[in-house]
Amino acid sequence: MLRIDGVTKSYRPGAPPAVNGLSLHVLPGEIYGFLGPNGAGKTTTIKMIAGLLTPDSGKISVGDFDVATAPVDAKRTMSYVPDDPELFDKLTGLEYLNFIADVYGVSQADRARRAGRLLEMFELQKAVRDLIGSYSHGMRQKLALTAAMVPAPRLLVLDEPMVGLDPRSAHLFKSLMNEHCSSGGSVFFSTHVLDVAERLCHRVGIINKGRLIASGTIDDLKRLQQVAAEGSSGDTTLEELFLALTSGSDSVGGAR
Ligand SMILES: Nc1ncnc2c1ncn2[C@@H]1O[C@H](COP(=O)(O)OP(=O)(O)OP(=O)(O)O)[C@@H](O)[C@H]1O
Ligand SMILES: [Mg+2]
Repeated sequence: MLRIDGVTKSYRPGAPPAVNGLSLHVLPGEIYGFLGPNGAGKTTTIKMIAGLLTPDSGKISVGDFDVATAPVDAKRTMSYVPDDPELFDKLTGLEYLNFIADVYGVSQADRARRAGRLLEMFELQKAVRDLIGSYSHGMRQKLALTAAMVPAPRLLVLDEPMVGLDPRSAHLFKSLMNEHCSSGGSVFFSTHVLDVAERLCHRVGIINKGRLIASGTIDDLKRLQQVAAEGSSGDTTLEELFLALTSGSDSVGGAR
């Protein structure tokens, strides 16, 4: 559903690459968590998937579409929610949802059904008639997630979607992701919330200094860490794994 092949990106000529030879894939029905320290290259990668940044080299495909050569088809296949969604302050939530539904060509019946359900879940039914300029950060995040689901995308690309969500909304978000992948959809999201990644994701990748240093199921990564730590047994948590893999070294091997 998503394939990234050997992608490298520098922001300035001669600067160290923000993303360096990155390859990974996300299958249909899979939730893939993209982890890494601040400045590791997560947002840069996500912006390249969304078509907002162009890779210096390498290729990104969404479904059957190359993001570089079939950008509109690739975009039609996915929804993207940035880490700090810039919505339109002078629109009401409802106007914004209708705008997104119009862009994606979603029928009146489908948009009403999909948005209505999520607005109810997120308790936004009243606020949706107010101007977005009056929304809190969490309300913006919930509206952006609702808008992302309106086109029923095959791939959801989310940059730190949990930030600003209250516990109930975070719980609803997780259910929504599970439901999305149960019906064959895929999710690629970055997060710093490791226990969510551990419980929600089928596979995770850890990026450090622009390089993917580990990728696989949580169990794969735990085994890798146990081998690296020469047979240390017991229950390694994802947090311990993350700290071990990202502690200075950028050369810990991992499966793609
Ligand atoms: N617009 C930009 N211009 C120049 N350098 C940038 C720009 N955006 C990001 N970078 C650099 O690229 C590298 C990767 O940044 P990126 O935002 O992708 O990290 P991240 O993994 O998303 O971090 P965080 O967890 O803090 O969100 C960092 O060294 C950062 O300084
Ligand atoms: Mg980021």
